[in-house]
Amino acid sequence: MNENFFIGRRTVRAYESRHISDDLMEKLVEEASHAPTTGNMQLYSVVATRSEEMKKRLAPCHFNQPSVEGCDVVLTFCADFNRFIKWCEASGAKPGYDNFQSFMTAVLDTVIFAQQFCTAAEMKGLGCCYLGTTTYNAPQIAEILELPEFVVPVTTLTLGYPKSKGADCGRLPVGAVLHKECYSDYDESAVKNLYAEKEAREDSRKFVAENGKSSLAQVFTDVRYTREANEHFSKVYYDFIESRGFGMPLK
Ligand SMILES: Cc1cc2nc3c(=O)[nH]c(=O)nc-3n(C[C@H](O)[C@H](O)[C@H](O)COP(=O)(O)O)c2cc1C
Repeated sequence: MNENFFIGRRTVRAYESRHISDDLMEKLVEEASHAPTTGNMQLYSVVATRSEEMKKRLAPCHFNQPSVEGCDVVLTFCADFNRFIKWCEASGAKPGYDNFQSFMTAVLDTVIFAQQFCTAAEMKGLGCCYLGTTTYNAPQIAEILELPEFVVPVTTLTLGYPKSKGADCGRLPVGAVLHKECYSDYDESAVKNLYAEKEAREDSRKFVAENGKSSLAQVFTDVRYTREANEHFSKVYYDFIESRGFGMPLK
């Protein structure tokens, strides 16, 4: 593998019309399924949407991001305790997985599986884009994909052969994320230094100007990920996971 593979990888949002073969799809799912999972329970499923009709139905759930209808396959990765619970019940075992802890266990398995899928696909020349909108509109996605109890959408990947490579959007320096032995907290000047390079980038400056803000951080707090939206979607998602069987245990 090229030693710069990880540094050079990019999110891809525009795809060629070329189809990914069923054999390749199955190979990628097989490779992803060798990711580590809690107790080797494999608490995930992935729903592959290939038909134009189903992509059209999913598109509004992702706020009509063009990659949904523009990709070859939309992959909805779901935390899934349904299969495991059914196996327990069919085997004289009493499952205790109708709680938030079990939901988190399944979410971890799902995200690790999705990322291994993404890496496997990128290593074969495909391009992917995660869609964070999955948790915003999980109830509608679940209805379209006919997900049963104990199956909750966690994330989505759009997948296809890349039309163009995504832009390099940079990263914080390693020192921002690596703490040696103990967590070293940031004072104001340290945190400003760590974000200085990101703020000075041409694309960041453009972003600030286009949104009429006075700092890059304000683009995040006031435009992209606002308190209002976060509070609204917290409630939607929490109510949904509870309705799917993963609530807090009753005292
Ligand atoms: C959980 C998650 C949700 C994301 N949601 C979206 C999304 O809804 N739309 C989008 O275009 N990109 C989305 N992305 C892609 C990020 O914007 C992208 O990874 C980030 O800007 C860094 O760019 P790079 O992957 O090209 O290095 C998401 C990524 C992750 C991990």
